[in-house]
Amino acid sequence: MTKSYSANKALALDFLGCPAAPAASVDRIEKIHEGLMSGNEAFTGWVGLPQRGGDKETERILTAAARIRDGCDVFAVIGIGGSYLGARAAVEMTEDCVGANCAGTPEIMFAGQNISGSYHAKTVDRLAGRNFKLCVISKSGTTTEPNIAFAILKELLFDRYGKDEAVKRIFAITDPKGGALRAEADAEGYESFVIPPDVGGRYSVLSPVGLLPMAVAGIDIKEVLAGAQRAAEDDMRGLAAVLAATRKALLDGGKTVEVFEYYEPAMFMFSEWLKQLYGESEGKNGTGLFPAALSFSTDLHSMGQFLQEGNPIFFETVLDVLRPPRDLTAPASADPLFAGKSMNEVNRAATEGVIAAHRAAGIPIVRVSIPDMSPYSFGMLVYFFELTCAYTGRLMGVDPFNQPGVEQYKKEMKRLLTIN
Ligand code: PA5
Repeated sequence: MTKSYSANKALALDFLGCPAAPAASVDRIEKIHEGLMSGNEAFTGWVGLPQRGGDKETERILTAAARIRDGCDVFAVIGIGGSYLGARAAVEMTEDCVGANCAGTPEIMFAGQNISGSYHAKTVDRLAGRNFKLCVISKSGTTTEPNIAFAILKELLFDRYGKDEAVKRIFAITDPKGGALRAEADAEGYESFVIPPDVGGRYSVLSPVGLLPMAVAGIDIKEVLAGAQRAAEDDMRGLAAVLAATRKALLDGGKTVEVFEYYEPAMFMFSEWLKQLYGESEGKNGTGLFPAALSFSTDLHSMGQFLQEGNPIFFETVLDVLRPPRDLTAPASADPLFAGKSMNEVNRAATEGVIAAHRAAGIPIVRVSIPDMSPYSFGMLVYFFELTCAYTGRLMGVDPFNQPGVEQYKKEMKRLLTIN
């Protein structure tokens, strides 16, 4: 069964071979939505972030970003998980659309996503001889990876510039009151921004967590928020409800893996952001769809066989960019099949060809079409998937805003470090 839904100047959904969204689930989502918007449910502050485009804090972010860009080759942004993935996804996805805004912007270097000694040594190498500033993002202020990276890079900064200047080069984004980073920022006088206490890490990209690095990168953050606001409108949230109900029906029908696929490599980090959003939100109480992601056409040469003929535990969600930002014509010397053709035209044939082949194998496919890779589309996609995730989580009977399971390995690691 094929159904198409679209919303004006927005994203469109096609459901190919998917079960119909059960009316009872869609009705239930109305109540779920009311609950999310009521202000009475824990960690739902993210629902209001798109409306903050004109507020004082957004202006303060823009002012700080202009100052950061001045005299800075590298802006090292330290954070992990929800304090990292969204900003990097935005920077990479919109890179070719941001254009003129990019002139004079520093390189945005992300750090603090690993424990490996080689990784940290390379991070230090990348700053050698370059004028840099630091942004440390952590709600708790105690997360291992960013904590280590901040200590290392702060020392480098102090050695390079001396304490007075170094302090002016550090920007902290953290809880307004609690936590080690808040205490340090207040004591040392770092310029700081707030992660709203009622917004969890993986839902925080539209707060200063994502907006400050984006603004420094030259991304129009008001456009990001406008796109997110568009996804909050009734027609678009209707699409999110249908998608959420369909995902739940697919899970109930035995599909346990959702494979996100994209044909623009710049969407890689966006798919990483999606993996965290869905994995941490739904994976609890023995349920949830396991989120996987594949980059096409690259991964067709490694995973294409499994997708076509392997164990059909999955369905596919295709992130389809209708107008990619750049193009090139294949030269006359290329294979006659491609010679003289636009590469985007060839990529389009790949997209449609893969969808046809996988449909022939009986794989259910959801196509999410977005107009382009602009900051507006980024914001729209973010809020659309956040809503869809919150709706499906509630339909699955889990709390989509907590992550109790991630503490277990940390306890084990700390126990081992203490006894050694
Ligand atoms: O979504 C989450 O809550 C996590 O991914 C956190 O964002 C991540 O663990 C980083 O935590 P913190 O911001 O406290 O350093």
